This record gives sequence, structure tokens and C-alpha cells, in this order.
Amino acid sequence: MKFKTGITLVALMAAGTMTTAFAQGPGAEIYKSKCQMCHSATGMAEFGMGKAMKVKPISDPAVKKMTEAQMIEAVRNGMGKMQPYKDKLTDAQIKDSVSYFRSLTK
Ligand code: HEC
Repeated sequence: MKFKTGITLVALMAAGTMTTAFAQGPGAEIYKSKCQMCHSATGMAEFGMGKAMKVKPISDPAVKKMTEAQMIEAVRNGMGKMQPYKDKLTDAQIKDSVSYFRSLTK
């Protein structure tokens, strides 16, 4: 537990050095560096790799009906062609990036 909290704090401090990123929360930075290439900045996956992989847009009813817990599960353990992130990101980072992803629907 202590170890993970440490990583989160470091990530938060790193994000804090960039004012805009910090304003959007820690999830924005993670999303931009790890998720955006497939899900796109708007979450619509409308071009590039996301389109090629047929990633569902965030507006898709199947995506909208997923709970935050289900999405965290999908990112942790992988879903379809999306690789599992549990060895690459901490649980806190996954949660932050998922909540940022969910905020894109608004
Ligand atoms: C290599 C491309 C790729 C990357 C990078 C990627 N994803 Fe995905 N993601 C996919 C694919 C493919 C699916 C499953 C197919 C689909 O959308 O139907 C998926 C599914 C999801 C889902 C389930 C809802 C949905 O759209 O089907 C969530 C939530 C999600 N990804 C979040 C993330 C987050 C958060 C990250 C960054 C930590 C991330 N993804 C990185 C390709 C990617």
C-alpha cells in the first residue's frame, strides 16, 4: 500500500509541473500518453489506430452503459485487442485515466 501511494504522489507531482494537465487532473496526463493513440482526444476513436482497431466511440451505447468498475476491469485485464495495463500502471493511475475517459462524455 505504501509503495503504491508513493508512486501516485510522484505521478501527481510530475503532472503538477504542467499547469494545464494539473487543472484537468492526473488522469488527463496518463490518458494523453497511454490511451489517446487509440481512443483519441475526444474518446471517439475516430482516426488512426483506434479506427483501424475498430475501438468503440465513447458515445456507443455499449460503452455508455459500462460502470466505472467495469471499465477499470477492462483496462486492468485487457479487453478485445486492448492489452492489460495491470503491470504497466498502478491501480490509482488506471482509475484516474478511466475517470478522465468517462469525463469525455460530458
Ligand atoms: C492499442 C490501442 C488501445 C490503447 C492504447 C488503449 N485502448 Fe482501451 N480499448 C482498445 C480496444 C481495441 C478496446 C475494446 C474494443 C472496443 O472498444 O469495443 C478498448 C476498450 C476500452 C474500454 C472499454 C469501453 C470500450 O471502449 O469498449 C475502456 C474503458 C478503455 N478501453 C480505456 C482505455 C484506457 C483508460 C487506456 C489507457 C490506459 C486505453 N484504453 C488504452 C484499444 C486501446
